[in-house]
Amino acid sequence: MGKALVVFYSFEGNTKFIAESIAMTINADIVEIKPVNEIKTKGFMKYVWGGSQIMMKKKPDIEHVDIEIDKYDVIFVGTPVWAWTYAPPVNTFISEHNIKNKKVALFTCHGGQNAKTFEKLKDALPGNSFVGEKDFFEPLLKDKNFNANRAMEWAKAIMQ
Ligand SMILES: Cc1cc2nc3c(=O)[nH]c(=O)nc-3n(C[C@H](O)[C@H](O)[C@H](O)COP(=O)(O)O)c2cc1C
Repeated sequence: MGKALVVFYSFEGNTKFIAESIAMTINADIVEIKPVNEIKTKGFMKYVWGGSQIMMKKKPDIEHVDIEIDKYDVIFVGTPVWAWTYAPPVNTFISEHNIKNKKVALFTCHGGQNAKTFEKLKDALPGNSFVGEKDFFEPLLKDKNFNANRAMEWAKAIMQ
């Protein structure tokens, strides 16, 4: 399948955990999308803040990463589900990098409602072929090992 990149955003560590499980198992490069101004609270206000970012279709500034997308054949894109879609920092990354003619595999972490997140990500990444999608229900809270294994098996199958 060629060389793989895992790119992800994670606010509370779930998507990071899955992203790292994937990258480790298939020996992929990994890039974490980091907003310049990350929300400070993990309390209830995170929903208000995060929700308003979605409603206003925000593209928050993200830290620059030196990544040559052209080097990769397969790109795994991971995001937490926020307000039934992908998180705004992923939006920024997609608009700042030219992801075209790639094999793209999508993964999400969520609290029970993945909703249309995969469809919306596909709409945001036209001109690619989609080779897989997998969602994870609160992997750090529920069953870490089970979910790490699911992620690893899934990633291996895609790379075969
Ligand atoms: C602002 C915000 C909005 C969220 N919206 C949803 C949602 O629409 N559906 C859902 O199932 N979970 C939702 N969640 C829960 C997260 O998707 C879930 O906790 C996920 O595992 C977090 O991933 P992370 O640890 O990588 O940030 C939301 C969380 C936040 C902070």
